[in-house]
Formats: sequence, C-alpha cells, structure tokens
Amino acid sequence: MYDYRKLFDLSGRQALVVGAGSGIGEAAACGLAAHGAHVLCGDLNLEGAQRVATEIDLAGGRAEAISFDMRDGAATARIVADLPDLDVLVSTPAINVRKPLLDITEDEFDRVMSLNLKGTFRLITAAGRNMKARGKGSIIAFASIRAVTVEPGQGVYAATKAGVLQMCRALAAELAPHGVRVNAIGPGVVDTPLTAPIAANQDWYNAYAQKSALGRWAKPHEMAGAVVYLASDAGSFVTGTLTLVDGGWTAVDGRFAPPL
Ligand SMILES: NC(=O)c1ccc[n+]([C@@H]2O[C@H](COP(=O)([O-])OP(=O)(O)OC[C@H]3O[C@@H](n4cnc5c(N)ncnc54)[C@H](O)[C@@H]3O)[C@@H](O)[C@H]2O)c1
Repeated sequence: MYDYRKLFDLSGRQALVVGAGSGIGEAAACGLAAHGAHVLCGDLNLEGAQRVATEIDLAGGRAEAISFDMRDGAATARIVADLPDLDVLVSTPAINVRKPLLDITEDEFDRVMSLNLKGTFRLITAAGRNMKARGKGSIIAFASIRAVTVEPGQGVYAATKAGVLQMCRALAAELAPHGVRVNAIGPGVVDTPLTAPIAANQDWYNAYAQKSALGRWAKPHEMAGAVVYLASDAGSFVTGTLTLVDGGWTAVDGRFAPPL
C-alpha cells in the first residue's frame, strides 16, 4: 500500500528558497525545513537569510544562508547550476510601485519588471535547466491574486504577476516530459514588510481584511502549507496551476451582501 504518511515528507531533499530573509520566503524556508528538507536560504539581504537559517538550525532543521541577487543573471545561473542536488526551488522576491499607470515613469516600470518578471524568469529557467538534467524537481514561483484581479494603482505589478503565472504554465508544459513540475502560488493579503505601507493606513488595512471571505489578513506561515504541498509528493500530479491562498478574496465579489 502507498505510504500516505510520507506524502509531505521532504527528508533528503534540497530546497533553494530565494527571498528567504523575510515574509513569505522566510515562512516557505521554515515550512520546508520542518518537513525535512535541507534549505538554502537565499536573499539579497544576507543578514536576514542568516537569521532565518539560524532559526531553522535551532529548531532542529538543516539550513544555510547564501547571498543571492535575482537581478544578476550571470550569478543566478552560476549559483543554481552549482547545486547538483536541487529538488525544490521557491522564488519570492518582488516589489510594488502603487501609482496610477498614467503617473508611472519608465524607470519605475523597469524596476518592477526587472525584479518581478525578469528576475523570476532568470531564477525559474536556471532551476529548470538544472532539474531537467536531473529528470525531477518542483519549481514554485510566487505570483499574487493580482495575476487575475486588479485595482487602481496595481497595473505594472499585476502585469508582472500575470506574466509570472503564464511563464510558469509554459515552463510546466515544457518540462513535464522531463519530470519537473512548475506551479505558481497566488497569495491574498499577507502581513509582511512588503505590505507595511498598507498596514500603516488603518482604513486601507481594514478594507482589505473585509474583502476576503475570511475577513482578515493572512500571517506569513499560512503560505507555507501550499509550498510544502507543491514541493512534496503530495503535489506529484500538480503542475501548471495557480494555487490561490487568498482567504476567498477572488471567489467572492464582496462589494455588496444582499439582505437574505
Ligand atoms: N505580502 C503580501 O500581501 C503578498 C500578496 C500577494 C503576493 N505576494 C508575493 O509574495 C512574494 C513575497 O512577498 P513578501 O510579502 O514576503 O515580501 P518581502 O518584501 O517581505 O520579502 C521579499 C524578500 O525578497 C528579498 N529580495 C528583494 N530583492 C531581491 C533580489 N534582487 N534578490 C534576492 N532577494 C531579494 C528581500 O530582501 C526580502 O527578504 C512576492 O512575490 C509578492 O509579490 C505578497
């Protein structure tokens, strides 16, 4: 009989989490390590990555920190190619410039594109090359609910997230014959440094909480379940998906509750 107790077991697997120094990447690294993976915590902020790797070690897991800049294509390719045992890649870094499209400068456009879309492209294709050669692996890229739904001020960010999703779908199709799965995760609103400017505005924060069916924001650890699921054998038949972890944000209109 299939051993269902091992569905989420990542013992003996190596995972690279880029963006592990903060927020959702930190939670992904901790979640993967708690299920047995040896985690490489990559981040532009090496101190943050080191803090998380130490936390994992203290909790009895295995982790190391590495300095990683997704905007550097050559370094990204080199670091990922040098990981002969890479089973799981998680890509999280992204930035947002919240402004009406008519006010976005070319420089702002390029900054958001170059990390969110081009950086993700560099990372997932580097991992794809590595895993294709090994004949197995799971690639997980963080998109957003903004891949499928927008609001004023999110035009460029949303375009990058829709782009990440479509790249993941294409890569899933291209790498499926080689045993590699590729999925995107679409969080709703999560309390992290990225969303701190929203949390600082009580009306905005509360409005976002009310928009989701669950009526609240997520904590970063609530993203880890989807990561472990997609990384492990529990997700062995899952590829090319957008896994929404959004508290029902995209399921419910939310503008008006009829008097039932
Ligand atoms: N927080 C939310 O509400 C939310 C909602 C939807 C989607 N997301 C997505 O989830 C992902 C993670 O978001 P978060 O809230 O954890 O963000 P965060 O800002 O807390 O963390 C991002 C991490 O990426 C690192 N980083 C930045 N530039 C980098 C680079 N060039 N190379 C390597 N590392 C770099 C940062 O140092 C930081 O540790 C993003 O893709 C974001 O778009 C977040």
